[in-house]
Amino acid sequence: MQVLVTGGAGYIGSHTVLSLLENNVDVIVYDNLVNSSIESIDRVEKLTGKKVEFVEGDICDKEKLSRVFKQFSIDAVIHFAALKAVGESAEIPLSYYQNNVHGTVCLLEVMQQHKVHNFIFSSSATVYGEENNVPYVETMKLGTPSSPYGASKVMVERILADLALSDSKFRAVSLRYFNPIGAHESGAIGEDPKGIPNNLLPYVAQVAVGKRDKLRIFGDDYPTKDGSCERDYLHVMDLAQGHVAALDWLNRHPDFSGVEAFNLGTGNGVSVFAIVKAFEQAINKKIPFEVSPRRVGDLPAFWANASKANKELNWQANRSLEQMMTDTWRWQSKNPNGFLI
Ligand code: NAD
Ligand code: UFG
Repeated sequence: MQVLVTGGAGYIGSHTVLSLLENNVDVIVYDNLVNSSIESIDRVEKLTGKKVEFVEGDICDKEKLSRVFKQFSIDAVIHFAALKAVGESAEIPLSYYQNNVHGTVCLLEVMQQHKVHNFIFSSSATVYGEENNVPYVETMKLGTPSSPYGASKVMVERILADLALSDSKFRAVSLRYFNPIGAHESGAIGEDPKGIPNNLLPYVAQVAVGKRDKLRIFGDDYPTKDGSCERDYLHVMDLAQGHVAALDWLNRHPDFSGVEAFNLGTGNGVSVFAIVKAFEQAINKKIPFEVSPRRVGDLPAFWANASKANKELNWQANRSLEQMMTDTWRWQSKNPNGFLI
C-alpha cells in the first residue's frame, strides 16, 4: 500500500510517517517545509531503517501534485499540510484560508483527476466551537471556532461532506485531534516550533532547557477546578497510531463511502497547573511561571468523548501523562535547537 502524506515533515506528520513505515505502508511525503525541516524525515528513515520518498512542493501547486500522482500508485492520502498558529491566523486570515482551504481543494481536485478516493484529514477539536458542551461527541453540530484557523477546519469538513454527496466513491475520515504533545520515545523527533512557541508544552520545555526565562499561565480565574484551562492532552505517538487505525478502518470497510469523523483524545481534561506540576516531577526541576491575563479565544475546558474511536477504530490513547512529559523532555534536552544541527 502506498500513501501520500502531505505535511509529513511536520510534528504530527513525521510521527505518523514513522508509524506507517512500521506497519509496512510505503510513504511519499509532500511538504513545502514552510514549518518543518527535512531532517525530521532523515531521522525517521534512520529510526525505521526504511526509505521515505520526499517531494518538496506546495499543495496549491496542482501541476506538481499531479506529477506525484502519475509517478506513484497512490492508494490513500493523509492530509496534514496546513498553517496552524491560532493567533497568527487572526493577523493574516487570507493566508490561512488560501493555504488550508484553497490548498485542500487543490489536493482534492488532483485526487479526483487521478481517481484516488481515500482521504484522511487532520481536523481539530476546535471545530466544536464554543456552542457545544463537554465532553465533545462526534454527533454534535459543528460550532463556530474563535479563529480563522479553526474556521478553516470547519470549512474543510463542510467541503468534504459536500464532495461526498456529489461523488459516491469518495471515502474520507476526519480525525479531530485534541491536544497532541510528547515525542517519539527515542528523542530523535519531536515538535520544533519556529520562534516563540504558541502551545503550552513546547513553551514549558523551552523554559526547562533554559531558552526562555519563565512560563506565562494565561488565566487562573476560569470556572475550573484550579482556575486554569483544562485540555485533553494525548501522546503524539498514540495520535500517530490513530492514523494507522483510520487507514485500517477504511481498508476494513470497502463498501463505505462518505465522511466519518472520529475524536482522537484520552477523554480526560488536565489543567495548565497540573501540566506544569507533572513536567516538574518528570524532570525533577522547578519551572518558573507567572500568572498572566487570559488569552483571547481560549475556552475554559474541553476534552473528548473518544468512545467512537475506541470502538470502531480499535484505537485508544494508551500512553500516560508521565510518559508525555518524559518524552517531551528527552526530545527537548537532546535537541535544544530542534532540528537545527
Ligand atoms: P506542523 O506545522 O508541524 O506540520 C504541518 C506541515 O505542513 C509542515 O511540515 C509544513 O511545512 C507543511 N505545510 C504547510 N503548508 C503547506 C503547503 N501549502 N504545502 C505543503 N506543505 C505545507 O503542524 P502539526 O502540529 O504537525 O499539524 C499537522 C496538522 O494537524 C495540521 O493540519 C494542523 O492544523 C492539525 N492539528 C494540529 C494540532 C496540534 O495541536 N498540533 C491540533 C489539531 C489539529
Ligand atoms: N497556555 C499557557 N501559556 C502558554 C501557552 C498556553 O498558559 O504559553 C495555556 C492556554 O491558555 C491553554 C492551554 O495552555 O489554556 C493549552 O494551550 P495550547 O496553545 O497548547 O493549546 P490550545 O488548546 O489552545 O490549542 C490546541 C491547538 C489548536 C487546536 C486546539 C484544539 O494549538 O490548533 O488545540 O485541538 F485547535
